[in-house]
Amino acid sequence: MLAIGDCAGGETKMGRLDGKVAIVTGAARGTGASIARLFAEEGARVVLADVLEDLGASVAREIGASAHFAALDVTSEAAWQQVVADVVARFGRVDVLVNNAAVLHVAAIVDTSAEDFLRVVRVNQLGPLLGIKAVAAAMREGGGGSIVTVASVDALRGQNGVGAYASTKWAVRGLTRVAALELGRFGIRVNTVCPEAGSAFMIAPYAPPGVDIAQVIPHMQPTLAYQKTRALDELIRDVAYAVLYLASDESRSCTGSDLVCEGGNIAGRIVKGMPGAR
Ligand SMILES: NC(=O)c1ccc[n+]([C@@H]2O[C@H](COP(=O)([O-])OP(=O)(O)OC[C@H]3O[C@@H](n4cnc5c(N)ncnc54)[C@H](O)[C@@H]3O)[C@@H](O)[C@H]2O)c1
Repeated sequence: MLAIGDCAGGETKMGRLDGKVAIVTGAARGTGASIARLFAEEGARVVLADVLEDLGASVAREIGASAHFAALDVTSEAAWQQVVADVVARFGRVDVLVNNAAVLHVAAIVDTSAEDFLRVVRVNQLGPLLGIKAVAAAMREGGGGSIVTVASVDALRGQNGVGAYASTKWAVRGLTRVAALELGRFGIRVNTVCPEAGSAFMIAPYAPPGVDIAQVIPHMQPTLAYQKTRALDELIRDVAYAVLYLASDESRSCTGSDLVCEGGNIAGRIVKGMPGAR
């Protein structure tokens, strides 16, 4: 059994992912790196997979001996097969897959080219399908597993400017339900997490000049007033905890579902002047 640290009195703390082997895509930075860190803290051996090789390898080194980096372009089926074969050869199993890698494109629909649309589809939609396909046999042989795809609040509502991105995020919720139905008999659970918060890196290229996105994102969850006072890293860590829950055996009864982690943005709207408004 793996121990993740000594508590006062010399007792060891049990990790929520003790003994599990996890692959996290898009883990070189942002949400994926936060998920990988949390998984390692909770006792998993974690493979950080990304196209950003230097950054991903350095994050894995920083996490420590339980973390490893694998170069992976999630749009390549051959690359997926290689990574999963390497993980099985090294660790003997795959228990958890987090489909976290994604790209953003911001443009009005009338200004979105077919090329831009398909670039987003390939990473955000084809990537998770190939990932599910690649790990299914290994998970089945290991007696089951948990697949979590990081979707978005944009998988739950519409927002101008994100036609390509939102299409793919709605699509992975559908893929998740089909995968849950097809793989449940092998003990494989498939769910999504739908966050509002994410890495500033993703949005920064589309921000108006002079705007610090890391300062703006905490203000995008207005239903919970205290979110505005929290640092972006903390909000991203909340997302990592949602993924951790679905990855762990604590969520054994959950499959084909969405864990919404977006500060109440889709709960509705506050009508000023009506009772209960601030
Ligand atoms: N940034 C946000 O505001 C926000 C909000 C809600 C949901 N999300 C979702 O959170 C997840 C993580 O994004 P983030 O916010 O950390 O952004 P990010 O841009 O920092 O991280 C995305 C990661 O995916 C990697 N990646 C991109 N294309 C890849 C490919 N073809 N193969 C492998 N890796 C690839 C990138 O190199 C990067 O490390 C994504 O699914 C994103 O859609 C983000």
